[in-house]
Formats: sequence, structure tokens, C-alpha cells
Amino acid sequence: MATYIIVILTTLILMSIYILGVLGENLYENEQIKLFAKANIMTDTVRSYVVGEDRDKIEKYSAQLLAGSTTRGIVVNPTYNVLYDSNNELNGKVLMRDIIKSASEGEQAHTVLTNDLGINLMTVAVPVKNGEKIIGVVYLVQAMTDVDKTIGYIRFNLIMFSVLITILVGFLSFGMSYVVTQPVDEFAEAANEISKGNFEKRVKVRGRNEFAHLAMTINYMCSELENLENNRRKFVSDASHELKTPLATIKLICDSVVSTPDPDPVMVREFLGDLSDEVDRLTRIIERLLTLTKMDSGKSAPKPAPTDVIALLNSVVKRLTPNANAKDIVLYTDYKVENLSDVILDYDKLWEAIYNITDNAIKYTDEGGFVKIGLTKEGKNILIQVEDNGPGIAFDEQDKVFDRFYRPDDSRNRETGGTGLGLAIAREAVIMHGGEIKLSSEEGMGCIFSIYIPYTAEHEGL
Ligand SMILES: Nc1ncnc2c1ncn2[C@@H]1O[C@H](COP(=O)(O)OP(=O)(O)O)[C@@H](O)[C@H]1O
Ligand SMILES: [Mg+2]
Repeated sequence: MATYIIVILTTLILMSIYILGVLGENLYENEQIKLFAKANIMTDTVRSYVVGEDRDKIEKYSAQLLAGSTTRGIVVNPTYNVLYDSNNELNGKVLMRDIIKSASEGEQAHTVLTNDLGINLMTVAVPVKNGEKIIGVVYLVQAMTDVDKTIGYIRFNLIMFSVLITILVGFLSFGMSYVVTQPVDEFAEAANEISKGNFEKRVKVRGRNEFAHLAMTINYMCSELENLENNRRKFVSDASHELKTPLATIKLICDSVVSTPDPDPVMVREFLGDLSDEVDRLTRIIERLLTLTKMDSGKSAPKPAPTDVIALLNSVVKRLTPNANAKDIVLYTDYKVENLSDVILDYDKLWEAIYNITDNAIKYTDEGGFVKIGLTKEGKNILIQVEDNGPGIAFDEQDKVFDRFYRPDDSRNRETGGTGLGLAIAREAVIMHGGEIKLSSEEGMGCIFSIYIPYTAEHEGL
């Protein structure tokens, strides 16, 4: 801000000095021309009387010529004796001046002097010639008071103008700093805070201009980062918790075997079986965590290829039929399309999604129930539906079951050996395909998981 003002002020001062210089020079030159003209007329008028040094006539005609003006007129003879002084001060005296001397040698001359009162005086001296002979000098003195007044007036105006402009620029740059610099400083400070991990930072949204828009974007970014950070913390703490549970069980089993003197081999075998189960559970959790982490980091980008969806679903059914049979659950398919062999998608990822959902359906449905896998086309999507007649999921849990590690009823799931990651992985896989996963359920009435995948795979990443 100070820089602006200094630049403007310097420019104005230089400009004023230049204007005043040119103007003063011009006005003085004008006066000088006028004064020379007057001196020349006076020379012509008094010439014939200077020859005879007729003081009365010189006075008479000079006074006529100078009447009404502020010019002082003096006529001297070649020996610098004053023949006439319109101020009547120097009559009969000798007056020596450089310019009078120049004029008496035949050269017109002029100069500007300052008198004792500080007033500028313009003086000109013109030779009075009789033929080639110089018989005297006309010397005129003109006070420059009027011209100096004009210059002073203009100088005053220029100063006022400069002061006004400076004040105006001051206000403007102050306004600018309020509108531009301050928000930018605030943004920089916010960015600094964010880079230190302080995601609660928010910037003020002022007005409705681009800065307000930027402020809103920054605030949005902060809240997204905050969410991300919270999710990360939650994920780490949930993951450690999930890993701790089987480890605690393993520790317990080991301790009890170690502390039993002479353990019964049958009991040991049973314990080892339990140990193996817990290790399986740990392995499952870690595998799924790895899958999710890879998906998050973009390392397991989808590898799309023309895929036969019916074959994919049949493969899942084939894999899970033994599980269904073991629980006396009827697992069957209901395809409303005959051929869907050219859908561009990542086979392995979609297979895992459908597998996780169908596996849940079988796991959570009571013995003697049914699980149906449907396939149809809806608009530009293919729609895969996994339906069961199990216990269903309460309305307020329906969104949460897709969250990582979320399990509505932990005790029930302990027996099923779940990890709480199956649906999270399924949802990631579907989103990766530009699709959508929906759950409709009512408690006690079973679940329907609907998976929509765009038929022409023109979606992101594919
Ligand atoms: N078909 C279903 N019927 C009833 N509850 C289900 C069904 N599918 C999932 N759930 C509930 O959603 C939770 C999350 O599922 P998921 O992410 O696969 O984790 P889990 O490893 O526990 O199966 C399950 O623990 C279960 O409570
Ligand atoms: Mg599951």
C-alpha cells in the first residue's frame, strides 16, 4: 500500500515540477518579448530628443508611452547619465548596469533580477541609434509580480491536486487491501494451518464475489479433509480392535494349555482347533483389510474386459451352493435376460462383491430359508438383486452396514465369523464401476440388495 502512494506521489511531484518549469519559462519569455517591443517603440519615440538631450521632451513622450503601465522607464546617454527616470529618482545621476553597458555597445540585452523586497524584476536595455551611432540607451524595468502570482496560483493548485490524488489513492489502496490483500492473507494462513494438519480451520466468507467462492471451496475442502482424517482414525482404531479380539482369544487358549499340567490330548486337540479358527479369522480380516487398502490407494485399479455376467453369477452360485446346502437353504437364480456376455467390467471385483453379498444372505438367513439371485436390465444399467428371507436389517442400520467394521449385532456375528468388511468391499467395487448399491429391507422380512452397473461401461476408470 505504501509503495502505491510513494509511486503516485513521486510521479505527481515530477509532473508538477515539469509543468511549473515549462509554464514559468513561457510566461517570462512572453513578458520579455512585450518589454522589448515597448523598449523599441520608446527608442523610436525619444531618438530625436536624445540627440539634443532634451529632457523635457523625452519625459513628455516617455511618460505618454508608459502611462497606465507598471513599467519603469529610464533613458541614459552614452556616459550613463540618466536623462529620464519615470520614478524621478535617478534624474541626473549615473546608472551603470551590465545590460546597459551591452546596449551602449550596440547589443540588446535583458536579465531578471530580484530586488531587496524579493520581487523578481525583468529588465531590458535597447540602444538608441542615430544612424550607426549610439546616442543613448532605453532601460525598462518590469516587476514580475503578476506573472509570479499566476505561477504561485498554479503551483498551489498542483499541490492541492497532488494531495487530493494521494489521499484518494490512499483510500483506494486501503479499500483494495480490504477486498483483495486481506482475504488472500487469510487464505494463505488457512493453507498453512491445513498443511499442519489443523483441518478444523475455516475462513470467513465475505460478500458474494470470487473470493467468497474461493473461501467456500476452501471451507468445503477443510471439512472433507476433516471427515477423511476422522475416518482414517476410526478405521485404524476399529482395525486394531478387530485384530486384538482374535489375538486375545489365542492368548487365552495358549495360556490355559500351558498352565494345565498333563493336559488331556483330546482337550489339546480341541484347543488347537479353536486356535486354527482364530488364526483363520485373523487371516480373513487382514486379507480384507488389504483388499480395501489397495482399493483406497488406487493400486487395485479395475481391469475391465467384456464379461459374461450370467457366467459370473453362476460361478458365485456354484461356490456357495455347499454353504447353502449345509443350512438347508434354497439358493436359486432368476435371470430375466438370456445373454449378457459383453458387459465391460472387472470380473474379479464384481465377483467378490456378489460373493460377499450372497455369502451374507446365506449366513444370516435361518435354516430352511431361500436366497435368490436375480438379473435384469433396467434403463442403461444391468441390475443384479440378491434377495433372502432372513432376519432383515433395521431401517436405521441400513446405511451403516456398508461402513467398515460395522456390524449391527456383534454377538450374532461372532458366531458367523464375520469381519464387518464384506459390504464395504462390495460397495467400493460397485462404485468403482460407476454403479450403485441399494438395500431395501424390513426387520424380520429379509433383505434385497440391488446392484446397478452401467451397461455400456463409459464410466470413470473403465
Ligand atoms: N442378508 C443379510 N441379512 C441380515 N443382515 C445382514 C445381511 N447382510 C449383511 N447383514 C448385516 O450387515 C453386517 C455387515 O455385513 P458385512 O460387511 O458383510 O460384515 P460381516 O463380516 O459381519 O458379514 C453383518 O454383520 C450383518 O449384521
Ligand atoms: Mg459378510
